[in-house]
Amino acid sequence: MVTYLSGIQPSGRQHYGNYFGALRQHVELSHQEGEHFYFIADYHALTSSPQPDELREWVRETAVTYLALGLDPEHAVLFRHSAVPEVTELTWLLSCVTGMGLLERAHSYKDKLQKGLKPNVGLFVYPILMAADILAYDADVVPVGKDQVQHVEMAQDMAGHFNNLYGEVFHRPEPRLPENESHARIPGLDGEKMSKSYGNHVWVFESGKPLVKAVNRIVTDSRPPEDSKDPDGILLLDFLRLFVPPAEFDDWCERVRAGGEGAPGYGHMKKRLVEVIEDTFAPARARREELLADPAELDRILERGAEKARARATATRDRALSACGLR
Ligand code: ADP
Ligand code: TRP
Repeated sequence: MVTYLSGIQPSGRQHYGNYFGALRQHVELSHQEGEHFYFIADYHALTSSPQPDELREWVRETAVTYLALGLDPEHAVLFRHSAVPEVTELTWLLSCVTGMGLLERAHSYKDKLQKGLKPNVGLFVYPILMAADILAYDADVVPVGKDQVQHVEMAQDMAGHFNNLYGEVFHRPEPRLPENESHARIPGLDGEKMSKSYGNHVWVFESGKPLVKAVNRIVTDSRPPEDSKDPDGILLLDFLRLFVPPAEFDDWCERVRAGGEGAPGYGHMKKRLVEVIEDTFAPARARREELLADPAELDRILERGAEKARARATATRDRALSACGLR
C-alpha cells in the first residue's frame, strides 16, 4: 500500500498559491487508495516566532481549511505536528548523520538569508525536522510545491546516510509535484509569485465585497478593449485560467487577441473572475462555517489523527533508537 504524507505551515490564512500548489493535490490524492497522513506543521511555524494566540488560531484555521476543501478524516489522518513529539527525537538522530554542507545548500534557507532575514538555528535545521516528519511515517510519496522538492531530496539523503551506518531503518520517499505545471507558481495580484510575505495574496475563502476589492487590485494596463492583445501578457487571464473551463478560457484568449468591437474589457474579465471564484469555493465556504460552529468536533478529529500518527512515529522512533545503539 502506498503511503502519502504532506504538511503545511500554519503561517496565516491559506491563499490561491497554497491551494493550487499544495492543498488541492493533497485533498485529491487523499481520496485515492493508500494510506494518507496530512499535518499542520506548527513546530515548523515556530521558526518565524509567531504570537502564541495567533499560532493557535492559524493551526485551527488550517485544519478547518483542509476539511472544508474536502479532506476526509475517516480516510486520511489529519493531525497537528506538535502532537507527535517523537519527530523531534528523530530530528536529533538524523542531525547526527547530516553534514553541515547539506543544510548550507538549502535554497529556501539561502533565499531567506538573501532577503535579510536574521536566521535562528531552527530555520537552519528545518530540513532535518522536515525529513523526520517524512521518515517517521515511512512515506512513499510526498506531494509538495516546487520550492519543497529539495527538502524531500534532503530527506532521501538523510535516510540513506542513517541506513548506511545502522542498517535499513528508514524508507526512501519520493517528491510529487502538482500535475498541472502552471500550478507550480501561482501569480499574486501584482504578477509576482503569490505569497503571504509579499501581501499580494487572496485568501481562498474570500467572498463578497472583499473579493471584488482583491480582484480589482489585479494589475492591468490602460490599453482599450478594442486593441488586439497578446493573451500571454495579461495577468487577469492567468487568473481566469485557474478557475474557468479550458474551452471558456480559450474563448477569452481568442476574443482578446482579435480585438475590435466584440473584445472584452478588463472590467468584463474581473466580473467573470469574481463570479467563478465565488462559485468554485461556495461549497467549501459553507463547510467551513459548519466546522467553525462545532469546535469540539474539530478537536476530536485532530485528537484521533494524533493518536494514529503517534503510534506510527513511535514505532519508527523505536526502530531507529535500537539500530543506533540507544536501546
Ligand atoms: P507563503 O509564501 O505564502 O508563505 P508557503 O511558503 O507557506 O507560502 O507555502 C506553503 C505551500 O504552498 C508550499 O507547498 C508551496 O509550494 C505552496 N505555494 C505557496 N505559494 C505558492 C504559489 N504562489 N504558487 C504555487 N504554490 C505555492
Ligand atoms: N516545509 C513545508 C512548507 O513550508 C511544510 C512541511 C513540513 C512539509 N514538514 C513537511 C511538507 C513534510 C511535506 C512533508 O510548506
